[in-house]
This record gives sequence, structure tokens and C-alpha cells, in this order.
Amino acid sequence: MLDFLPLYVLGGIALALYFLILRPRRGGKDAPPLVLNSPVLPGPLGMPLEFCKSPVKMIRRCYDLYGGIFTIPLGPKRMTLLVGPDYQETFFKANDDALSQNEVYHFMKSVFGPGIIYDASRKNRQSQFQSITSGMRVTSLKSFVSKIERETRTYLKEHFVGDEGEIDLFKALSELTILTSSRCLHGDDVREKLFKEVSELYHDLDHGLTPLTVFWPNAPTENHRRRDSARKEMVKLFSKVIAERRANPNKTDGLDLLQSFMNIKYKDGTSITDEQITGLLIALLFAGQHTSCITSTWTSLFIANDPSIMQRIFQEQDNILKRNDDLSYDHLSNMELMHNCMREALRLCPPLILLIRLAMVDLPVKVDGKTCVIPKGDMVGIAPSVGMRLGEVFKDPDRFDPDRFGEGREEHKIPYAYMGFGGGMHSCMGQNFAFVQVKTILSILFREFEIERIAPKMPEINYEAMVVGPKGDCRVRYKKRKN
Ligand code: HEM
Repeated sequence: MLDFLPLYVLGGIALALYFLILRPRRGGKDAPPLVLNSPVLPGPLGMPLEFCKSPVKMIRRCYDLYGGIFTIPLGPKRMTLLVGPDYQETFFKANDDALSQNEVYHFMKSVFGPGIIYDASRKNRQSQFQSITSGMRVTSLKSFVSKIERETRTYLKEHFVGDEGEIDLFKALSELTILTSSRCLHGDDVREKLFKEVSELYHDLDHGLTPLTVFWPNAPTENHRRRDSARKEMVKLFSKVIAERRANPNKTDGLDLLQSFMNIKYKDGTSITDEQITGLLIALLFAGQHTSCITSTWTSLFIANDPSIMQRIFQEQDNILKRNDDLSYDHLSNMELMHNCMREALRLCPPLILLIRLAMVDLPVKVDGKTCVIPKGDMVGIAPSVGMRLGEVFKDPDRFDPDRFGEGREEHKIPYAYMGFGGGMHSCMGQNFAFVQVKTILSILFREFEIERIAPKMPEINYEAMVVGPKGDCRVRYKKRKN
């Protein structure tokens, strides 16, 4: 029941704690301005309510009034927001001793299990990240292209039936993302024999992460109970796969992430457990599933929204390979327009709208000769949806214009401006995989079909979701392209 509480009700609960905000502020005269007035509700309770209702609009409003650095009260905490490249630089350059992720993302332990990423010691976390990096090396990415291609062709044959028809693109791309992720990250054995079980368990894990989980990870709710049971089942299931692989090491190509995690040896000599291997696989599904399927959906909807761009995409595909040619990693690397369309969709509609850390020290932010000090203990956030739509940074910022990244303009190269995949030491470790996955799927889709949106307008952005995607009608009419 608690799972269904809307964000604004949770905001209401947070209000009870609000009076803690009136405690004295560290940082003295150098602290960023503390914003206490909201048009949503006059008085001290307005800001948390406004944040829960519409964080992106609120951050934009405060930016227009106060500039690139300001603090908002959030329940018993304060969050200092940094907007614009000069301010975002501090966020991306800080190390974990200054701005820490662990404290703010620690609730993910309830989904990933103990000892994983935000719950791991620093050295173990390093080993876990090294193994993700090694699992995403170019040799592996090259092997993923044909796996994703095979899944996509089979899926299109089964679901894009006949020469024309209608399909819910968001739903289709969501299904295709988990099929292709499972093939690449878990391996052929899991994809072929256990996909149904894994995807059902993932579904329960996914629904066990609600706004309430952030504040109260183990609240006694039905969704949390199902999440905990799904995680236990997932560990059992992967323990069997791990045992089989250890007994028959030559049965897989050794290039999937499961294999990479099985090879982890921690620096203190301890071995990784089956539960931790499973936890890392769950973490990757969480990092990549919604983000990638949302990005492929927006990218294709934006392409379909502009006939001239869709024609250029067809042209690019036809210049690089024939309709039925097997795709390779090199083909994908040559798809510059497709790449820029994906980047641009991410600029306009980033699925992660707030990246957050905790200030572990008083942190100076120097811009234009002025220094502000973020007080130790503040949460610190950047908002990709606001920062990547600043007119002073990106020309005509609300327009879908993939050419802004092309030769001569290259707006993504303005330091600390583009953050579709975050930035700095914690930038996305799966971004090369995401490009390979989305571009492979869309290359096959656009070589085979023209698509046209059915609804009169582009879908809105669903800012209420934990990972922000399209809201409303994502159906398209597809039509087989003529040879
Ligand atoms: C289009 C798809 C994706 C988008 C937009 C995206 C976006 C991001 C962003 C913004 C961050 C930074 C979070 C922060 O600073 O707090 C991040 C981190 C991360 N992403 Fe992705 N991601 C995508 C796909 C993936 C995939 C497919 C994987 C793995 C299979 C992945 C693995 C990770 C990991 C492990 C981190 C944590 C890095 C760290 O903390 O050092 N992501 N991602």
C-alpha cells in the first residue's frame, strides 16, 4: 500500500521534518543562497513540496533567480544545486573524499544485496568497477554486435508482422533491451535456458524500487517483500549457472559480464561470492535497462518526428551497408548521424534527471573570481535536464538538432556542459555498450522500416518516474521500406 503513495504525499511526510531546516547554516557568508520561497505554497513548507511536484521546473526557476549555485531545503537535509558548465565542473572534478556517492545511493543495497558497489569497501568497489571495465572492452563489444543483431532480427520478425502495422515502440524497445542485455551481459546459456525466470525476477526487483525505498529501504510493503524474495531466487538461479560454468569452463565464449564477475579476485585475497556476482549482474540491469530503452525510444521518436532527419538516417544506413548485410562494430562506428541523434535525444530527455552526492567537507566552488563554500553535510546535485537546456550553452536548446555535435559546432565538447552519461570519475561505465546496443537495434529497424508516430504530438516527459522516460502514447505505424 505504501508503494503507491505519490511523491507529493511523501513530500508531505518530509514536511514534518522540515522544521529541522531552521537550524543554523554552516558556511557563513560564503554559503550559497538558501532558497526558502516557493510560488507553490507561501512560507517555509513550499520548497520541499515544489521539489516533489516538479524538481526540474523548480531547479530552472531557482537558476533564473539565483544563478548557478543555490541551496534548497529537503526534509531534514539541504541540497545545493550546481547549474551550468562552470559550476558542474566542481561536481565532476571532486573525488569521493569530497563528494561521496555511497551515502546517497546506499538504499540500493536493498536491491543489489550486501557488498555491492555503494555497500562495498573502497578496494572491493574498485575491483568490481575494474571488472565492469574489462567486460566492456572493445573485444567484448565487437562480439556483442552480432548477438544484439540476431535478437533484433528475430524480434522484428515476430512483432513487426506484415508489410505494415502498428506497435507500441516503448514497449517493444523495452522488451528488446532486456533480451539483448541478457544475451550480452548474462551470456548465451542464461539467455537460452533461463530468460523467462530472469526477466520475471527482474520485474519484481524493479517494482521493489519506489520513491519510498529511497527514504525507507526496508519498509514492510508487499513490493519490498517480493523484491527480497526475487533477489534470493535470483541468487539461487545464478549459483547454479556459476557452478555449471566452473565445471565446464569451455562451454561459453568467456566474453559476457557474468564471466568477468566470476573472475574477480579481491585485493585482500577473498573470493567473490555467488551472491555478490548476482548482485553485480542486478546492478548492471538496473543501470542499463530503463536508461537504454528510454534512449532508444526517444531517439527513434525524434527521428520519426522530422522527415528530413529520417531520410538522412536512411541515406546513412544505405551508404554504410546493404539491407541484409551483417553488422559489425566498424559499421556502427561510422554511423555518425545515428550517434548524434542518440546524443541529442539524451540531451533533451536524459533518463537520470538528478545526480547526487554528499559533501564530506566544506567544498569551495570558484567561479568568475568569486568563491562560494558548499557546507559539509549538504547533498550536492546536478540536473542534466536543466543544465543541458541552457540557451547560453546549447544554441536553440529545446530543438532536436543532432548537427550541433557535428564538425564545426561540436557543442558537446564545451567542458562540463554535456552530461548525458554523467561525467568525471563516475561517468557511465556502460556508455559504449549503450551506444552499441541502441545503434544496432535502430540500424536494423531503420534499414527495414519507415516509422510514423500515431499520436499528433510527441509524448511528454514523465518526470514522476524514478528513471524518467516518455509519458503517453508511444505507438507508431511501421511500413516496410522498399528495396
Ligand atoms: C543510454 C543508456 C544509459 C544512460 C543514459 C546512462 C547514464 C548514466 C549516468 C548519468 C551515470 C552517472 C550517475 C552518477 O553520476 O551518479 C551512469 C553511471 C553508471 N552507468 Fe550508465 N547509463 C546508461 C547505460 C548503462 C549501461 C547499459 C550500463 C551497464 C551495462 C551502465 C552502467 C553504469 C555504471 C556501472 C555506472 C556507475 C559509474 C560510477 O559510479 O562510477 N549504464 N550512467
